Amino acid sequence: MGGIDSPYVTLSCRIRMPAVGLGTWSLKGSAGIDAMLKALELGYRLLDTATYYRNEREVGEAVRQSGIPREEIFITTKIYPTEYGRPDEALEGSLDRLGLGYADMAMLHHPAADDLRAWGAIERAIAQGEARCGGLSCYSPSQARDFMARVKVRPQVVQNEIHPYFQDAASVRGLQDLGLAVQSWYPLGGRGHVRRILKDKTIVAIAQAHGVSPSQAVLRWELQRGIMVIPGSSDEKHLRENLDLFSFELSEDEMARMAALERGEKHGWA
Ligand SMILES: NC(=O)c1ccc[n+]([C@@H]2O[C@H](COP(=O)([O-])OP(=O)(O)OC[C@H]3O[C@@H](n4cnc5c(N)ncnc54)[C@H](OP(=O)(O)O)[C@@H]3O)[C@@H](O)[C@H]2O)c1
Repeated sequence: MGGIDSPYVTLSCRIRMPAVGLGTWSLKGSAGIDAMLKALELGYRLLDTATYYRNEREVGEAVRQSGIPREEIFITTKIYPTEYGRPDEALEGSLDRLGLGYADMAMLHHPAADDLRAWGAIERAIAQGEARCGGLSCYSPSQARDFMARVKVRPQVVQNEIHPYFQDAASVRGLQDLGLAVQSWYPLGGRGHVRRILKDKTIVAIAQAHGVSPSQAVLRWELQRGIMVIPGSSDEKHLRENLDLFSFELSEDEMARMAALERGEKHGWA
């Protein structure tokens, strides 16, 4: 996939998916619902959740309260490895908690021994209209290739850790070469690291050159690498700027300067 320069990406199954979404991992309870409602009001149309985040009820509630037609919002949820032994039940539980009729994307949260079996539940959900498509999270290109060789319905997206200090360029290319759309988790580096990354001199200089914030420079760089992003935030100013990524463009030189920031510094698990 080339760079992304519009708010939607068309997946190989022809489903349109927002290129920028809201990561909801930290959004829980009524404050979480308020943040998601604000995001939807500002124009976000993708909410990324998981059974592991324990906030699927809040996601469903925010979508219902927003008054936005269900079909205009893209919901991703994920089954956790501890659920791979009873994946149909796990997916039903997610759908019940969301209460939105269907999930747009059902993902496997991590590779694990039973992941092929768990994928069977996603295939059945797609066949029954309970999920529109499926994806993987935390898969390398070789894991994704092996996986795809053994399933009937191919995954559409791989969601992996990607940020300026963990760019994982070879994996991103490898996944894209397999025809998979790539989405970044921890697009700003993840909590505990974001402030340091957004103060990086190179990032600050590039942001200043475009009159945007450092977070916008980082997210735009990811989009130009063909990577979708799901930054998490509950701050209105941050929510607003993280969505405003299509009015400026990093030059080849700026993309190269961003690439030079790679440190192989993984901030999440596995
Ligand atoms: N698949 C997986 O295994 C996996 C693993 C981890 C995460 N995820 C997904 O990825 C999403 C994103 O991860 P994350 O939220 O932990 O990390 P992140 O998006 O890299 O960073 C979020 C942090 O950045 C701050 N922030 C956001 N926008 C900002 C801005 N414009 N300026 C300054 N600070 C800003 C937020 O604080 P404020 O609230 O103050 O804005 C928050 O502390 C999660 O919600 C989840 O959906 C998936």
